[in-house]
Amino acid sequence: MKSVNIIGAGNVAHFFGSKLNDEGYNIRCIYNRTLEKANALAMLCGSMATNDIRSLPKTDITIIAITDDHVGRIAEEVYRIHGHSLPLIHTSGALSLDVFPSELQQVGVIWPLQSIIFGQISGLENVPLCIDARNDTFKKEIEKICIDISDNVAYMPSSQKKHAHVAAVIANNFTNHLLAISESYCQEHGIDFNLLKPLIIQSIQKIETDSPKDIQTGPARRMDLHTINDQMDLIEDKDLKKIYRTISKSIIKTYHENN
Ligand SMILES: NC(=O)c1ccc[n+]([C@@H]2O[C@H](COP(=O)([O-])OP(=O)(O)OC[C@H]3O[C@@H](n4cnc5c(N)ncnc54)[C@H](OP(=O)(O)O)[C@@H]3O)[C@@H](O)[C@H]2O)c1
Repeated sequence: MKSVNIIGAGNVAHFFGSKLNDEGYNIRCIYNRTLEKANALAMLCGSMATNDIRSLPKTDITIIAITDDHVGRIAEEVYRIHGHSLPLIHTSGALSLDVFPSELQQVGVIWPLQSIIFGQISGLENVPLCIDARNDTFKKEIEKICIDISDNVAYMPSSQKKHAHVAAVIANNFTNHLLAISESYCQEHGIDFNLLKPLIIQSIQKIETDSPKDIQTGPARRMDLHTINDQMDLIEDKDLKKIYRTISKSIIKTYHENN
């Protein structure tokens, strides 16, 4: 089985550590800035732990799963110390392959298009894995590894991945934020948020079979301007008013302008 180093010990490092370990990969070393966290992940994977980049052993791949802002610096450091001996992969949706030193050919990306939270990894099956690499041979290597841990592997060039990342932020992070706003609005007005859950779950489930555009409902979809104005008056918070207005305008534009 192939050998792997993991740089990082957060959510995504745990995801790859646990999935690859389950498939029998030889996880040789976990590097992390904070050694205690490297130790914890290393224990799960039966590997060594370090906070010294120089101690990384030679492996088939080294996965860099740290915060986006530091991937480039760590990749440079690995290259400076280990030269071409450690093929590198990062896991970011926001970064392209250009974050790696231009001298390296065996570099790639595995972007899990899923929200990954340490502690909820065992429930994650067939996470979509979007891959890209600087050369085709290495891309095939990455693909083989990904197929071992997911049935949902897709090639996605960096130029497209950055747009997929924007789409994911809007669909997932923004939706979740709106749910959080709705929850606190309920709390403010003494409403049990649980009452809204069947409605929320139903709209998410519907997109399995229908386009979101086809299942939009609500006052803006119907162009009920009196209701919209009444609701705007009810909302006291200035920022929430702006969000309500902007999204209502967007819905009206989608369904009622140029029709
Ligand atoms: N979580 C997701 O849902 C998800 C999904 C797809 C892709 N990704 C990508 O996966 C990567 C890791 O995300 P994550 O969610 O696993 O992050 P995370 O859980 O917040 O972990 C961050 C990791 O980065 C390290 N780090 C932070 N600042 C550093 C610095 N200055 N120097 C060196 N290491 C530093 C941390 O080390 P310490 O332990 O020492 O703080 C930790 O190992 C990111 O590129 C992210 O875009 C995340």
